[in-house]
Parts: sequence; C-alpha cells; structure tokens
Amino acid sequence: MADLNVNIGELHMKNPVMTASGTFGYGEEFADFIDISRIGGIIVKGTTLHKREGNPYPRMAETPSGMLNAVGLQNKGVHHFVEHIYPRIKNIKTNMIVNVSGSAIEDYMETAAIINELVNIPAIELNISCPNVKQGGMAFGVTAKGAEEVVKAVRSVYKKTLIVKLSPNVTDITEIARAAENGGADSVSLINTLLGMAVDAERRRPILSTVTGGMSGAAVKPIALRMVWQVAKAVKIPVIGLGGIMNWKDAVEFMLAGASAIQIGTANFIDPAITVKVAEGIDDYLNRHGYKSVKEIIGALEV
Ligand SMILES: Cc1cc2nc3c(=O)[nH]c(=O)nc-3n(C[C@H](O)[C@H](O)[C@H](O)COP(=O)(O)O)c2cc1C
Repeated sequence: MADLNVNIGELHMKNPVMTASGTFGYGEEFADFIDISRIGGIIVKGTTLHKREGNPYPRMAETPSGMLNAVGLQNKGVHHFVEHIYPRIKNIKTNMIVNVSGSAIEDYMETAAIINELVNIPAIELNISCPNVKQGGMAFGVTAKGAEEVVKAVRSVYKKTLIVKLSPNVTDITEIARAAENGGADSVSLINTLLGMAVDAERRRPILSTVTGGMSGAAVKPIALRMVWQVAKAVKIPVIGLGGIMNWKDAVEFMLAGASAIQIGTANFIDPAITVKVAEGIDDYLNRHGYKSVKEIIGALEV
C-alpha cells in the first residue's frame, strides 16, 4: 500500500478524498453503505448563522452528464448545528469540516467564531459564492476585493484551518484565488457549481423555480480541471480540486494538475460508496506506477 496521507494547512488527512458540501449530508446518512472513517474528510452541508428554508421546488433538474440544483443553502442554522448535530457527528473518525455561508461579512464572522469553539471540527470551508446582501447581491467570490475582505474578516476570528471555496463564475479565477490567499486562507477549494439553466419547452417555463441554478457532475470536469491547473500555479497554498469527479481516474487527473486533495459531490448520488472506491483506485494507481506516496503525484503533470 502506498502512503495516502496529505496535509491541508494544519489538517491531517489519511487520504486525499473528501466529500463535497451539500452532497453527503452530515456523513451519518452514508454509514449504512460504507465505513465513513475511511474518507479523508467530510465537508458537511452549507451552514448559515440563521435558519434558511431554501428555495421553492422544483430545485433539481437532470442535464446530459450532470445536474442543476437550486437548493438554496437550506439548513437550520449554526446554533442548531452546535446543539443537535455536532454531538452526533463529533466522534466520527475522520475530519468533519463545516461549510460556512452567509450574506453579510458579520454573518460569516459570527458563524465561523462559533464553529471555532467546537473541538472536533478542525477546519471550515468558506463558501464565498453567496450574494452579499448589503452590497447589491453580488457574490463575495466574484470580485478580488470582496473575496479578500470576507476572508480577512473570517481569518481574524477563526484560528484553525481555513479553506476558501471559489466560484467558477468569474473571468479570471486565479485573481480570486490570490485574493483569498492574501486574506489569510490556508487552502482554496474549487470549483463550486457553474451557473446554468433548463427550460421545459412544452410548458414554456423554466424547470427550476429560481430559473437559473448551479450545474455539477461529469459535464463540468474539463472546466474544473483547467481552473485547478491555473490556480495551482498561481498560489502557494494547497489547492483542493472538485467538479465532476466520478471515479479514481478523474481524481488522479486533478492531483496531477496540482490538487493536494479532491472532493466528490454529485457522484455520491449515483454511487454512495464512490468515495472509498476512489481512495482504493488512487492507491492502486500509485502502486502500479511505483509511487511510494500520493504526494509525489501532486502537480506532477508534464506540460
Ligand atoms: C445538491 C447540491 C447541494 C450543494 N450545496 C452546497 C453547499 O451547501 N455549499 C457549497 O459550497 N457547495 C454546495 N454544492 C456544490 C458542491 O459542493 C460542488 O462544489 C459541486 O457540485 C461540484 O462538484 P461535483 O461536480 O462533484 O458535484 C452543492 C451541490 C449540489 C449538487
């Protein structure tokens, strides 16, 4: 067996496979299918300061080789998480990471500060794709200034590993990645969903209640891979790659392009055991190619 250990900031992971926020619940839901302690890290659902109902239905649509979602960060808020969910998940033997969202800098800060106190949560992933309600609804993550500002603010209250999740809906993702690094991020993860749309021609209506939604799944992989490759060259902090990873081969491709770890999202809906299979597939690839450690393939792409 090859050494699959990787580090993201102070976060130590037994393998580079993580689950993507919003696609793996709080992990427990998958315990009937796999031994979830075999996953390197589980990123739980998007958590906000206050409870959010999410968007009206329909909020999912299937697309060729992918899907659109407009779930809208439905969750019961950080206080509910602390009181009811954390006690249930805190002893799961993997890194339980909370994805933090908000619509004002103060919300992000308060949520992060509360999670900072939870001993068994070693990291947060900051979702900066949410609309900044105070500044006209434009997402924090689509301007370098907005991204740096929110990351800096959270960094001032959050003392553990801070991962910042980047939106692909920008002209130059490397600029946003550098802004996150300047703001004090320990790592960046990318990509979040791509903005898309689906139409029902018979009814002459959009399929999603919100008209547009976030696209994910196999179809987005080439875009995600390209962005990971660009960002890995642009920043010094470790990059976590995701977007359309459906099998171990996709995961290896992201690592060769520069990702230190990967996340699996939509593929969990197709095969609830995919994470463990990907970890095994990476190990097998390393053994076949004579690598002793997975770290040897990070950014090993020959261009
Ligand atoms: C149903 C659904 C819910 C999601 N919820 C969140 C979320 O709460 N926070 C977040 O940062 N990303 C969320 N995402 C985005 C995923 O974490 C991931 O970035 C995206 O789906 C691309 O990866 P994939 O192609 O492997 O699914 C969600 C995606 C889906 C499909």
